[in-house]
Amino acid sequence: MRWWQEAVVYGVYVRSFADSDGDGVGDLDGIRSRLGYLELLGVDALWLSSFYRSPMVDHGYDVADPRDVDPLFGDLEAFDALLAEAHRHGIRVVVDLIGNHTSTEHEWFRAALASAPGSPERARYHFRPGRGPGAAEPPTNWRSVFGGPAWTHVPGPEGEPGEWYLHLFSSEQPDLNWTNPEVWADLEKTLRFWADRGVDGFRVDVAHGMAKPETLPDDLRQPGWTPLGDRDNDPRFDDPGVHDVHRLIRNVIDHYPGRMAVGEVLVNDDEAFARYLRRDELHQAFDFRLRNAPFRADDVRAAIDRTLRTFASVGAEPTWTLGNHDAPRAVTRYGGGAVGTARARAMAMVTLALPGSVYLYEGEELGLPDVALPDEVLQDPRWERSGHTDRGRDGARVPMPWDDAPPGHGFSTGDPWLPMPPEYGRLAAASQLEDVSSMLSLYRRALDLRANHPGFTGGSVEWYGAPPGCFAFRRSASTLTCALNASTVPVPLPPGDVLLTSTPLRSGELPPNAAAWLI
Ligand code: NOJ
Repeated sequence: MRWWQEAVVYGVYVRSFADSDGDGVGDLDGIRSRLGYLELLGVDALWLSSFYRSPMVDHGYDVADPRDVDPLFGDLEAFDALLAEAHRHGIRVVVDLIGNHTSTEHEWFRAALASAPGSPERARYHFRPGRGPGAAEPPTNWRSVFGGPAWTHVPGPEGEPGEWYLHLFSSEQPDLNWTNPEVWADLEKTLRFWADRGVDGFRVDVAHGMAKPETLPDDLRQPGWTPLGDRDNDPRFDDPGVHDVHRLIRNVIDHYPGRMAVGEVLVNDDEAFARYLRRDELHQAFDFRLRNAPFRADDVRAAIDRTLRTFASVGAEPTWTLGNHDAPRAVTRYGGGAVGTARARAMAMVTLALPGSVYLYEGEELGLPDVALPDEVLQDPRWERSGHTDRGRDGARVPMPWDDAPPGHGFSTGDPWLPMPPEYGRLAAASQLEDVSSMLSLYRRALDLRANHPGFTGGSVEWYGAPPGCFAFRRSASTLTCALNASTVPVPLPPGDVLLTSTPLRSGELPPNAAAWLI
């Protein structure tokens, strides 16, 4: 068993985890100061969101230098110190690898703008002439994932039409041209740079992107194109050429024993998804099916079955996640308030009972809800690019509350980069630590059992009959059973001794919106 196959990996949104210098933005030293908490929580690894040099249009996912730390977050020395200390705590560290695009501030893109059409400098990106009268229309009808067109015009010298460059995200994130050998060589250099420093793995950003179809055909699904997350027949993503990029990544990583790559693969079709997990490609891919399932027993069960089937088809171990910095938080998604919290507790137990590895998102263990932020503080480029119709992801990125002292709640001694609401005091780590009924205590107990109880074994699950609106499954190699009650009435438990419940039992029965582990 390799370390990642059953690991619990904690997603740190670096900007929002812990601020060591009072500027209101989280940083690497801040994370280092909270390693004791992460060890107590019981996670095996951290996935750090992008902390590379960046003008921060997309908060670090617009990278100006992938082999340096942005001064906002620290420096290479701070990274080395964090890595060494995490390892001393027995915690591994996974870092981001962003190969689909750079920042417009990257030296390559600056050189491209300073060079003529057809130059080698422009050939590292996708520059194209426009269409239509005066070449005034973008080269294709592609849309940016963040809203608006996926092309931005660069004027030519006096009297010339200029060119357009492709960006699947914001206009400050130009897409790299993966037919250019320099792009390959540079990604390899970045991989080696961080692997040589000792990182344990890479999270591959937009792993379904990178390669583009040679002819850049129009998106024929328009009008009425399908938004992110359901993109079969989307010419922007899942081009067959991308698998060679993953082979390159794998090839490099294979020179570093014990390291891994996990991809952000947003591909809906099961067979297409599984192709990323072939033996010579990614070790793991995020699976968002469970996260996307509504809180209904049939839907959750169908999502679990689909994930297990898809991963098994290529002999890979499944991954599970209820959230990350790009999606609404679980408590909010499941309805918010007491019901949303109860459901998030139950789903945490469902997730942690499954075979494979689990990717948590910071604050999930505190039961943080999304924050309804006022317009004027929103920073996600989605907000502007969508013409103020998509509020973006900031609501799930509000900093972590460590204690009950506003405005910084132990996250920062300054003003946090997004305002933290008063209710965050009640949800702060310090407020929950000693409370046995808190979400944090539930996570700690569940992670401890998952790591140390012999029942958590067996690579598949067997389903039991269950009352309507409920399910129960057993891990294939043990008697560990997980029961979920997503109905509106209490139900009897399946046979076995109760190990843990997400909500106290009611007259021996499992209440609605609750889960139980039995052995
Ligand atoms: C996925 C990252 O998680 C997200 O935050 C970012 O905006 C996009 N990829 C583009 O890099």
